[in-house]
Amino acid sequence: MSRIDALLRAMTLTEKLGQLNLVTANQAITGPSTNAAIDTSIRAGEVGGVFNLWGREAVSATQRLAIEESRLRIPLLFGLDVLHGHRTIFPAPLAETGAFDPDLWTRTARAAAQEAAEDGVSLTFAPMLDVCRDPRWGRLIEGPGEDPHVASIFAQAKVKGFQGWDLRHPGAVAATVKHFCAGGAATAGRDYAAADVSARQLREIYLPPFRAAVMAGCAAIMPAFNSIDGLPMTAHIALLRDYLRNELGFDGVVLSDYTAIQELIEHGVAADRVEAAALALNAGVDMDMVSDAYLENLPDALARGLVKQEQIDAAVRRVLALKEKLGLFDEPFRIATVDAHNPEAAHNLARDSARRSITLLTNHNMLPIGENMRRIAVIGPLADAHMEMLGSWSAAGRAENSVTILEGLKAALPMHDIVHTEGVSLAWDDDRGVAEACELARSADLVVLCLGEAAYMSGEAACRATPDLPGAQQQLAEAVIATETPCVIALTCGRPLMIGDLAERAGALIATWFLGDMAGHAIADVLTGAFNPCARLPITWPRATGQIPIFYAQRSSGRPPDETNPFTSKYLDTPVTPLFPFGHGLSYGAAALENLRLDKEIFFADEKISVAIDVICSGKYARRETIFFFLRDPVASVARPVMELKHWRQIDLAPGDRKTISLTLGVEDFVFPGVDLKPTAEPGAFDLLVGFSAAPEGLLRASLRRAMRPNTA
Ligand code: GLC
Repeated sequence: MSRIDALLRAMTLTEKLGQLNLVTANQAITGPSTNAAIDTSIRAGEVGGVFNLWGREAVSATQRLAIEESRLRIPLLFGLDVLHGHRTIFPAPLAETGAFDPDLWTRTARAAAQEAAEDGVSLTFAPMLDVCRDPRWGRLIEGPGEDPHVASIFAQAKVKGFQGWDLRHPGAVAATVKHFCAGGAATAGRDYAAADVSARQLREIYLPPFRAAVMAGCAAIMPAFNSIDGLPMTAHIALLRDYLRNELGFDGVVLSDYTAIQELIEHGVAADRVEAAALALNAGVDMDMVSDAYLENLPDALARGLVKQEQIDAAVRRVLALKEKLGLFDEPFRIATVDAHNPEAAHNLARDSARRSITLLTNHNMLPIGENMRRIAVIGPLADAHMEMLGSWSAAGRAENSVTILEGLKAALPMHDIVHTEGVSLAWDDDRGVAEACELARSADLVVLCLGEAAYMSGEAACRATPDLPGAQQQLAEAVIATETPCVIALTCGRPLMIGDLAERAGALIATWFLGDMAGHAIADVLTGAFNPCARLPITWPRATGQIPIFYAQRSSGRPPDETNPFTSKYLDTPVTPLFPFGHGLSYGAAALENLRLDKEIFFADEKISVAIDVICSGKYARRETIFFFLRDPVASVARPVMELKHWRQIDLAPGDRKTISLTLGVEDFVFPGVDLKPTAEPGAFDLLVGFSAAPEGLLRASLRRAMRPNTA
């Protein structure tokens, strides 16, 4: 008899429900309520996992309660939101997605897992895979941006990084992919609000990243807070059971979000906690995060026939199986003795990933900083802000470990005269410091203007109806630019911000997002030219809030936008185009694409197509270039998006290089959800569009036609 069978046979109902109980230890506060007296509950066998607790001593002491003082001595899971680093903080996920480098995504997750495991963590609530096209949503920063293909590759890379090749490895943590699904489509960009997306949008946009994560072997999945079509995800049988379990064959653990089971009452689908617990269990949720509803109310649900004992046993079995996969029964403390953490390697990775996550949005011949720029005024509320560099969900990160922009520039330019003033505060509408800031600007050869958001203005519970520069920052920027001292703006932020005409008026504009510990050094590396910026936008940058949601893969319309024709899909007061398109980003020097070619223009359904294109590097800077390959399906059985990303490639180029990039298009690139939402590939004409971004004017085009083989019968 297996260990799990033996335990199931020995457990009381309370002990079984205890394994489904996930409680918070409050070392971090990540929700509206907490659990009390968890030590007592652990001793009584009423807890299966603890989260928001880290540190070897604290975790070991809590684990000891379970394996030495409870009746069946079942080890606990220890969870934490390790999204972009544990002790060493890497760039926030949206920023890092801009590196468009799956190997980098894996390496930072691997380093984070190593550090978290050394602190006793065995389960991370990451990666977050919410595709989002709405900068009002604070949690945009936690995920991989607007594109489902990018999100799918991101999912695979992160699951691989966190879990490694064997969960028993002491440096691995189990990945909980979240939030399943469509949290990023919440009404008006508000946390927890309904996401009424179509079945088609689910199949085209919101399900693919989770499919990729399941195929990559993720250990757990966390349903989203929101409802879809009036059904809260925590009780969504069609998506949790029929899709995840039956269609994808997911056999890992489904663990609820924070008090989400209890919240089924507020959703209006459960009259009380008994019904809420029954709905969640019937939908396939295995663990109850913080509600205590499984422990306290499933006995009544069982007695009232709302659930069956075998459902409880199946959930317990999945939780115990995860503990077994993690090796917790044999090594409950999971001492990470292998590959002992190397702080220097982590710092180097933090600096490299941060540099690769900086997007140069504009550069009017301003950057890199010229030798003649001897006196540099570093101005703004984000110039010397340690905590803000870490961003949200910074786990065990510490503000004092981060390098600010001011510190990074001083370290990079020790012989320069670098002066600083905050100018205005981060959030207060107080412009009294603007005059002094302008005085300092006038005295300098260059201003580095450090603007943006505080860490708390991004992440969960950080939605903004007006996602612009908080406080008096816009006034500060306009006044400093008016001094006519050359000015570079660095935006520390968790979302594309509405910045009015600053993009045109500033000498250069870089999006630095939240870059983690090595932010200051990385930003200085880019501003001085020590590193050629190579990140590209994983999210469309709107001109105005009113354009939201705005994204490149818009579904076609009967009257597509045409600024010259009023009777088309457009605005009276704002262009329909974004400020910066998906994939936008500059590097120092110049590059061009030429000679897009296919090995065939007509191909049969089962054939592959070879694609090649030449990339030329001109100018004096070596660079890493990212090239995006989109497909357009102009005529199909359903209206398709005007273009969809299918592949991207990166290539390193030296000045003067002309290199060829080639790839193969396969059947899977032409598959889409048909009228019946089943995977479909149809004959007909297609356009292959290749460019440095989704900007139509920069795309090279090639036509191809997919034919069906003549009937050979
Ligand atoms: C929060 C978040 C979720 C997180 C969980 C535990 O409410 O929605 O992403 O993993 O609680 O902290």
